[in-house]
Amino acid sequence: MLTSTLDDLQARFAAACAQTRDERELDAVRVAYLGRSGEVTNVRRTIGQLPADERPAAGKTINDAVERMEAVLAAEQQRLEARAFETELQQRVDVTFPAVDPQIGTIHPIRRIFNDVCAYFERLGFAVVVGPEVEPDYFTFDALNIPSDHPAREGFDSFFITDNLLLRPHTSTMQIRTMLQHKPPIAVVAPGKCYRRDAVDARHLFQFNQIEGLLVARGVHFGHLKGVLTGMCRELFGADQQVRFRPSFFPFTEPSAEVDTTCPKCKGHGSDCNMCGGSGWIELGGAGMVHPNVLREVGYDPDDVSGWAFGFGIERLGLTRYEIDDIRRFVESDPDFLTQLH
Ligand code: FA5
Repeated sequence: MLTSTLDDLQARFAAACAQTRDERELDAVRVAYLGRSGEVTNVRRTIGQLPADERPAAGKTINDAVERMEAVLAAEQQRLEARAFETELQQRVDVTFPAVDPQIGTIHPIRRIFNDVCAYFERLGFAVVVGPEVEPDYFTFDALNIPSDHPAREGFDSFFITDNLLLRPHTSTMQIRTMLQHKPPIAVVAPGKCYRRDAVDARHLFQFNQIEGLLVARGVHFGHLKGVLTGMCRELFGADQQVRFRPSFFPFTEPSAEVDTTCPKCKGHGSDCNMCGGSGWIELGGAGMVHPNVLREVGYDPDDVSGWAFGFGIERLGLTRYEIDDIRRFVESDPDFLTQLH
């Protein structure tokens, strides 16, 4: 009688276990059968009704059945764990799911313009030279025909480190360094960082980039300069972009010009444009024929050789090329913005 009750109970227990879908359900089955008030406990209670000499054997029979049920429980537990793991794997690792695109960096637009301008000049036979960002005032001003009492120094509102050492406010320092090192003919471009105590706005940064150009040889004239710079702007912006040469003044060039292009924001309409201040043009850089005083300073004979030089703001070239209305965009390190520009 006891044996058949237990057989029936074990069969029902095994069937109930097999139907469970998770550990919570399995535990409910365990409690129903093996728990303190479960079915096995009910069977155990019947032992008391048996004659005393039959009780030990009945107890053992029940314990054996419980052992078998616990073995079934353990096996079911393993089954459920394996199933849960399988489900988790399927949810987490779907091998058919398209892979995430790798994040590939792009060349910063400022670097790209440097590269393009340098490539243009290298094609024309110019060498690329680089030099220090911390300079003595001799290379920055004196040798460039800007003595210490010259008002033009104020135009280059500079960060001084000591009385005569400063962060270079322009790459024209490289004109002097190159001419002191080499004899003419010289044809170089010098890209690099510059620093000025300028208030930051849509056109100004306190750290920006320039590219300097210098050509010194016999018979060099302003027409060369105009042709070469117009060619550079065409290369960067396409043939439709307007460029103008406006008479200007630099102590180290004579005659001098500033080179402007149509404002990328108002497209030349001006009026209340905050980018160009209403003029319709933005300044890209300065240029001119190297001043005889500068040639003399580096030991060249102005009656023998002549030269032209220019210094363009790379960010300004970037504003025009990418039609951006604020120079600060280049330095905000916003990958969504930067990766759009090619
Ligand atoms: C100069 O720096 C001269 N050295 C250029 C030159 C070289 C003239 C050789 C003649 C011969 P200027 O201060 O105008 O000139 O600056 C040249 C260009 O640098 C500007 O037209 C502008 O494009 C850029 N620039 C100047 N200051 C800033 C600034 N704060 N932020 C961004 N770009 C600037």
